[in-house]
Amino acid sequence: MKYTNLKGFPENFLWGAGTSAFQCEGAALEDGKGKSIQDIKTIQQGMADYCVACDFYHRYKEDIALLAEMGLKVFRFSIAWTRILPEGVGEVNRKGIAFYNEVIDTCLKYGIEPMVTMYHFDLPAALDAAGGWLNPATIDAFEEYVRILFENYGDRVKYWLTINEQNMMILHRAILGSGEVSKKDTMQENHHMMVAQAKAMILCHKICPNGKIGPAPNVSIVYPFSCKPEDVLAANIYSAIRNWLYLDVAVFGEYNALAWNYMREKDILPVYAEGDEEILRAAHPDFIAFNYYNTQTVTACREDQSIEGKGDQQTTTGEAGIYLGLKNPHLPRTSFGWLIDPVGFRNALNEVYGRYHLPIVITENGIGEYDSLTEDGRIHDSYRIDFLRKHIEQMRLAINDGADVFGYCPWSAMDLVSSHQGFSKRYGFIYVNRTETEMLDLKRYKKDSFYWYQRVISTNGEDLSDRQEDESNGISGKTI
Ligand code: BG6
Repeated sequence: MKYTNLKGFPENFLWGAGTSAFQCEGAALEDGKGKSIQDIKTIQQGMADYCVACDFYHRYKEDIALLAEMGLKVFRFSIAWTRILPEGVGEVNRKGIAFYNEVIDTCLKYGIEPMVTMYHFDLPAALDAAGGWLNPATIDAFEEYVRILFENYGDRVKYWLTINEQNMMILHRAILGSGEVSKKDTMQENHHMMVAQAKAMILCHKICPNGKIGPAPNVSIVYPFSCKPEDVLAANIYSAIRNWLYLDVAVFGEYNALAWNYMREKDILPVYAEGDEEILRAAHPDFIAFNYYNTQTVTACREDQSIEGKGDQQTTTGEAGIYLGLKNPHLPRTSFGWLIDPVGFRNALNEVYGRYHLPIVITENGIGEYDSLTEDGRIHDSYRIDFLRKHIEQMRLAINDGADVFGYCPWSAMDLVSSHQGFSKRYGFIYVNRTETEMLDLKRYKKDSFYWYQRVISTNGEDLSDRQEDESNGISGKTI
């Protein structure tokens, strides 16, 4: 549906961009920081690890100045649990507290709203060694950790995100950092994270009078490959397992029925501890944040079907007897094989708003590509501009459809280490001069998309045109 009178983005729309601590900060063991599971995970030879990343820890002042120059209204970043509590519990690391005070204050100095993810894939290694999320003690550790965050930063941080992509940590546990455990244990871990999240939401409302908090899963609408009723059923079941299981618990305090009965059938139901039900029901998010990259397509799957490959956040393989991931022939792909589906973004926004009726902020959306730095210091990333423009157009349409969207944070503010595919897969508006294993000078360069997004923000999303000639005329590519 097209609109003859298309309304624009709301006034005060939060145009932003995001990063996460382990992918960006570096200084992995500096100033008292403890090891997280990302610091001990096995990295494929020749691929970047997280020791230096983009060195944001030492360069945050110049980086945030660049973000301010781009015009950001909000900066989404995560706090490394192990910088605050090196062992996950116990003694607080004052230097860690001080670092994030500086980051928050620097944002505020430029009028940028800080949006804090409390946990982005980087569980403290010490907690992991003690059983990780399978151990209910991790719930208490998380509650204590977030209490410290609210008490130290709650006077200045308004927007809090509980757990980044809990659904992906559960569905792709091995590639995102924690190795494999049985499916039953994984669903118990998931339940513990749900309870930990609920406790964080309750605590936020108690401690931070102006605080707003929400979950941040990865949402991908699931298309049936055909209009065969069996394919539609497969799509619905997979969508319940992939998307709604997590959001239903966060919003309604109870499991999605289809997902629950799938777990019952597979004998992987989580066990509720005493009091869990009350805690889950007492917690209420103020908004829903979600990360959107693309959509999935599935068909019904035979019981004896062999499932190939492992998949990743955006690539569905399947489950025998339930659903089988197929290539969507209507959609193009990035160089890394992820589908590109801007209209799917509109579908996702409408679906999430229709289900939960809560304001939405997009916390990730972007394209990972091989960028190249030209001899005169430029990065002509027209593919990124194209990707983002098409998604912003669809977001505007979704707003016209009625979805209450109050912010958009593309991934990522600057190049960073991908969660499983190294440094060559670049997402940022700002190029960071390093390779997979050589740190070079780590200098920052503004990509063409930097200037483009600057104009998008300054016109509140009205001007999405790609005027590359103007942008590269004299200013594009200058280093700071
Ligand atoms: C999301 C994560 O899954 O996707 C980010 O929240 C990640 O941490 C992003 O970087 C892109 O995925 P990848 O694997 O290409 O880095």
